[in-house]
Amino acid sequence: MSQQIIQQRKRGFICVNAHSEGCRHNVEKQITQVRQAMTPSGGIKNALILGASTGYGLASRIAAAWGFGAATLGVFYERPPKDGFTATAGYYNTVAFHEAARREGLLAASLNGDAFSDEVKRQAVETLRRSFGPLDLLIYSLASPRRVHPRTATIHDSVLKPIGESFTSKTVDLKSEKVVEVTIPPANEKEIADTVAVMGGEDWRGWVEMLMAEGLLAPGVRVLAYSYIGPHLTWPIYRDGTIGRAKQDLEQTARDLHQKLSRRLGGAALMSVNKAVVTQASVAIPVVPLYLSVLSRVMSQHNTHEAPIGQAIRLFRDALCSGDRRLLDAEGRIRLDTFELDPQVQAAIGRIWLAVSSENLYELTDFAGFKLAFDNLFGFNVDGVDYSAPTETDLHW
Ligand code: NAI
Repeated sequence: MSQQIIQQRKRGFICVNAHSEGCRHNVEKQITQVRQAMTPSGGIKNALILGASTGYGLASRIAAAWGFGAATLGVFYERPPKDGFTATAGYYNTVAFHEAARREGLLAASLNGDAFSDEVKRQAVETLRRSFGPLDLLIYSLASPRRVHPRTATIHDSVLKPIGESFTSKTVDLKSEKVVEVTIPPANEKEIADTVAVMGGEDWRGWVEMLMAEGLLAPGVRVLAYSYIGPHLTWPIYRDGTIGRAKQDLEQTARDLHQKLSRRLGGAALMSVNKAVVTQASVAIPVVPLYLSVLSRVMSQHNTHEAPIGQAIRLFRDALCSGDRRLLDAEGRIRLDTFELDPQVQAAIGRIWLAVSSENLYELTDFAGFKLAFDNLFGFNVDGVDYSAPTETDLHW
């Protein structure tokens, strides 16, 4: 046991510790939202979520468990508590998830390790075989800056850069809170290839093919990966940049996997294009924090603002359960980003983008909300949490 008053510690903008009770509140809040929005239905008995501890993966895990009563195996890479230091937020989120799942009688297992490795894949196979059954659903929601290739041991570091030419844009310096201009030089061929190796489809394919070979995919299985397209404003750094190249590779992988799964198991491989949200991964992308601050202001005004759990609810309830084909685009991708890309929303964002400066940042954008959402990711500044109370940090699921 190790109780302490946990004070937020930051290095620059990034939070280096996490509040276990704040994380528990966040998870409970998401569970409540799913309960309110979804009537538990069958159809997904066993789900594997890769990247299950934070952001879109955690929201997906909660929607699968509380929306479908699914048994979930979650895989993620998080730091456990040690020598009085707190664990990472994703670790505490998982503790809270398991606590709630136990209460509810929902089967849950978690593997904390490198999903890119053969070792973790093997552990997942053993766990599925021992305690679960063949999967009805696999969600691929990893966001990682690095991958050690299991065959070659090469270390691939992903970069977030434009391709072909430099990109100059407004951005907010998160430390000084000044709106400044930033120029990001283009990536070289190695950086592009490395980013595709980390965030592209090779590892997803590896998971799906291994599970198929092991007989651990059920007839009708659906495997999903997440992507982002976004508006013209961010295309040079996202859609047309290194990360966009990786997402193209992921989409090509979806097409290949779809052929195999539909032929052999009557299954499907799908891409879900989600909206931009505040997560540890998205905040690392240049220009995106300013865009998220403007987006949140405008979407709140349009009453269409959604966090990952809102997106996961629509994905599971409308796309996966009801099979609402209106959510599919011409290329068969699930589009959860239509409210973000609404022309009126984007026109309003464009106007604010031109006008925003250091002086009017808080007035024209929801930068305050952005900072709060970021603190919340680590369990800090969460409503209803008593931060003056000693809190247990040495928690395990
Ligand atoms: P996140 O940073 O909240 O979550 C990343 C997850 O991956 C965590 O569970 C982390 O533990 C896990 N992870 C990282 N490296 C790992 C490794 N080596 N082994 C095992 N687990 C590992 O990220 P977020 O934003 O939820 O991203 C998930 C997916 O959603 C990504 O494909 C991202 O491109 C996509 N997406 C994100 C959007 C956003 O605005 N955040 C928008 C649309 C799509």
